[in-house]
Amino acid sequence: MERTLVLIKPDGVQRGLIGEIISRLEKRGLKLVAAKFMSVTRDLAEKHYEIHKGKPFYEGLINYITSAPVLAMVWEGPLAIAAVRQTMGSTRPTEAAPGSIRHDYALVVGRNLTHASDGSETAIQEIGIWFRPEEIASWERSSDPWIFEQN
Ligand code: RTP
Ligand code: MG
Repeated sequence: MERTLVLIKPDGVQRGLIGEIISRLEKRGLKLVAAKFMSVTRDLAEKHYEIHKGKPFYEGLINYITSAPVLAMVWEGPLAIAAVRQTMGSTRPTEAAPGSIRHDYALVVGRNLTHASDGSETAIQEIGIWFRPEEIASWERSSDPWIFEQN
């Protein structure tokens, strides 16, 4: 079972797309195990986007992510990292597959609504930046056997 960090970034919050984005992940069968609605400090933003430091879009990215609250979440499921990135679509909305969130609701890379971890090591590292272990709920969902094929 994998866990992945998902952020609904300030544009998703401001545009009232929280429910739509959560709904798509829920309907796909992924399981929510943590959520926090919060303002992002510059310190947290810099930690989260450390890998992009020095790139031309870095300052704009930090300003964007700290400009309004975000909804930070952890979602769980088999192959959750790949599944969530597929549901979000490619980073550039005009390259995102039809039916993906970025295709359906976004136009430009600098306002692409969501963040999702891009690999298993990144997921563990990012979840550690945004959540304390006790903020993550391990729980049995009654529909798990109908979605996860545990037998
Ligand atoms: P994310 O980390 O947000 O899930 O997106 P990603 O893996 O698809 O994209 P990544 O390359 O990690 O970039 C992180 C975020 O930086 C912004 N960005 N702007 N102006 C640009 O060329 C540019 N490139 C990236 C986007 O908000 C992207 O999601
Ligand atoms: Mg990324």
